[in-house]
Amino acid sequence: MIRPINVKNQQGELLINNHSFYELKEKYQTPLYIIDERQLMKNINIYQTTFISKLFQTQIVYASKALLNFEIVRIMQREGLMMDAVSMGDLYVINKAIGNLKTVVFHGNNKSKEELIFALENNIGIIVVDNLQELYLLNELTNKLNCDAKIMIRVNPHVETHTHKFIQTSKVASKFGISIDHLDEFSEIKKITSHNQHLVWVGLHAHIGSNIFEEASFYEEINKMVDFINYLNNTMHISLNELNLGGGIGVRYNLDDPNIKLDQFLANIITYLEAEICKTHSLINKVYVEPGRSIVANAGMTLYTISQIKNSDVKNYLFIDGGMNDNIRKALYDAKYTAEVISKVNEEKIIKADVVGKCCESGDLIIEDGMFPKIQEGDLLLVYTTGAYNHSMASNYNNLLVPAMVLVGDEIKLIVKRQEFSDLVKQFQ
Ligand code: LLP
Repeated sequence: MIRPINVKNQQGELLINNHSFYELKEKYQTPLYIIDERQLMKNINIYQTTFISKLFQTQIVYASKALLNFEIVRIMQREGLMMDAVSMGDLYVINKAIGNLKTVVFHGNNKSKEELIFALENNIGIIVVDNLQELYLLNELTNKLNCDAKIMIRVNPHVETHTHKFIQTSKVASKFGISIDHLDEFSEIKKITSHNQHLVWVGLHAHIGSNIFEEASFYEEINKMVDFINYLNNTMHISLNELNLGGGIGVRYNLDDPNIKLDQFLANIITYLEAEICKTHSLINKVYVEPGRSIVANAGMTLYTISQIKNSDVKNYLFIDGGMNDNIRKALYDAKYTAEVISKVNEEKIIKADVVGKCCESGDLIIEDGMFPKIQEGDLLLVYTTGAYNHSMASNYNNLLVPAMVLVGDEIKLIVKRQEFSDLVKQFQ
């Protein structure tokens, strides 16, 4: 059973950090996103203590697309993590939370002029340039606004990964970045940056995909990227010292997922990097990683109320009061989740059922063919590992409200208010 370490079975009822889920429901209603503060801090701490090297500096960039709100931004800022952003909306949220964008890495394959101006005017930390067209625009803007931009170029190193095709980002046909084989484009980038003092080109970025469990995929990325930086330094005489490896480390949603140990995984990546950098006499002196999922996924869970139980001829259904609008990942990636019934953890699991939501769509599924104890209306269901790409991909389909989110440590803190019906009509004229 995948049960978070801070969710404990106390005489047949689950508690989180000693707080009752029934009380959480009473106060904040369901569905409810819950972030376990202790697990979140533990994950951050693993990165801080294992992604370090004596050979080069390291920087962790939290991939905010996994989960973004003011409290998360404040925590990342406090812990010294940078944050990524991919849109004006992301930039706006982070800027509102901390007042500047100095610790932000700006990504995206189609950044608009407005987004780039906003980023430059608010002292963006790093812009990861996706393509030549974007570089031309940035060249123009930095000259016009008379401001500097620290840039990296996003490279597609063509590393095949074993993950869902929607979250592979390094195939030859990927829309992201400049192919590692397009040397002419790198000559052009050299030409442009050497004619514009405002453009400070420090390194390269790659992100090979998401929810990856094989260390070998990252090793292949490291080989290709270190070699490529060395080539640009030594043969093309472009002085680059920084490498951003992107994110992508997988997490365990179910027992049949690999049980990787994050600290060991990161330590192995560091060892591999150090060996590669030493062996090739590389000038790389700073390495970034950009984890999203492996920081927040297993710190999150979603609490639902089971409203009805339906038996069709071939299936049992547990109807919950949320669904694909608060967790689209089953519908989109065939993601699999683990869940437990809060007050029946000691009871035998005798019923096979699908956990389905309220939306008018047969694909509105959270769990297919799960095993559950005998259920009564009003039982609370806790779905684990929902911290990443659940709230951030939530929608108002069927005008369901996006749930609230609480941070639960010693104390309970409401960090995202539940939407109200009035929010649904705000934009309507
Ligand atoms: N850096 C870049 C440039 C990225 O595009 C991503 C994720 C990350 C870092 C963080 O990757 P992570 O450590 O979270 O795997 N919605 C999908 C995941 C999309 C990932 C997009 N990019 C899902 O729910 O599985």
